[in-house]
Amino acid sequence: MAKIAPSILSADFANLERDIHNIEEMGADWVHVDVMDGIFVPNISIGIPVVKALRPVTDLPLDVHLMIDRPIRYVEEFVKAGADWLTIHVEADQPQNTLAALDKIRELGCKAAISLKPRTPAEAAIPYLEKCDMILVMTVEPGFGGQKFMADMMPKIRKLREMLDHVNSSCIIEVDGGVDANTHAVCKENGAEVLVAGSAYFKAADRAAFVKTIQG
Ligand code: DX5
Ligand code: ZN
Repeated sequence: MAKIAPSILSADFANLERDIHNIEEMGADWVHVDVMDGIFVPNISIGIPVVKALRPVTDLPLDVHLMIDRPIRYVEEFVKAGADWLTIHVEADQPQNTLAALDKIRELGCKAAISLKPRTPAEAAIPYLEKCDMILVMTVEPGFGGQKFMADMMPKIRKLREMLDHVNSSCIIEVDGGVDANTHAVCKENGAEVLVAGSAYFKAADRAAFVKTIQG
């Protein structure tokens, strides 16, 4: 069974507590929190104080996706704010800093993940495979919800799964961008175990049924 992580980027920011309780009530697994700095991506969303404020609102794992430049500067603060999973982008800094950031996340007791933008090949993950608990494959250009799913990312998921099976088989793969009732199946067939869904979750007429569809 796959996990679904609804992204609060598509929630009502004036009613985050209500929408997170809804995510829980609908039977979803994690809460996906998109952090954007206006530099790594051309959009600005939310940051450390919001993660801290959301922490007591739910017992679900907070899956925090940092789309920020040089994330090593902030990983400690995000873990202390309450992230359970913290994802950094391989494109956001030099490899030695990305490695150090992953070590730091794990030392602080949080699960560490890397993410790859659509144009970043699977091979870019090689230096980090053993230091990750999860790899997040973007199936849209990061920055905005509601974009079209890039089905041509599926071979990348498959390649990463094969690479991980050799060196770190417990590491899981998450997919983010354009996941809906039509696109979820191919992600799972290719090896994804956690599926982020923003607009499709919040627009679903029957959210509980949507959650079950993605999980099944
Ligand atoms: C995009 C974010 C996603 C976004 C997905 O940069 O990382 O998590 O919320 O939104 P949908 O599911 O609408 O593509
Ligand atoms: Zn995301």
